[in-house]
Amino acid sequence: MVQTTPFLLVLSLALVAPGLSARKSVLTGCWTNDLGSNMTIGNVDESGNFAGSYLTAVKNTPNKIQESPLRGSQNYMNENNEPTFGFTVNWSFSDSITVFTGQYFVDDNGREILKTLWLLRSSVRNIKEDWKATMVGTNTFQRLHSNK
Ligand code: BTN
Repeated sequence: MVQTTPFLLVLSLALVAPGLSARKSVLTGCWTNDLGSNMTIGNVDESGNFAGSYLTAVKNTPNKIQESPLRGSQNYMNENNEPTFGFTVNWSFSDSITVFTGQYFVDDNGREILKTLWLLRSSVRNIKEDWKATMVGTNTFQRLHSNK
């Protein structure tokens, strides 16, 4: 009885409030995009938070590309398990930041796709240059090492 009580507690919590229990996210794993950039997303916690790394294939700086950390959040509300999410990449080799927002989909061929829109904020010398500091674009990611 003493040993089964915590198990029953976790089980009933998972049944009553599935959004509060840990689970494997569809976002976890390795992804590549239409520019040839690669990213890895780690486990997503019960609040939807995750961390990972990003290796961009392109850059807007003379500096040498380095793998950079990302942090993000997944929304668990979607009933088809096609969640929305957002993440920030804090570039290790430049003074820029990129935020991505998007949604996970499974297409008609069964392929997993992340459709995203991003904002790349560059650092400018002063406030007069602020108007030209932000670029916008889209990226489509596919899962790397997919067995489909
Ligand atoms: C920089 O140049 O300062 C950092 C690298 C920015 C790479 C951008 S982020 C949006 C777009 N998608 C990618 O995969 N890479 C570029």
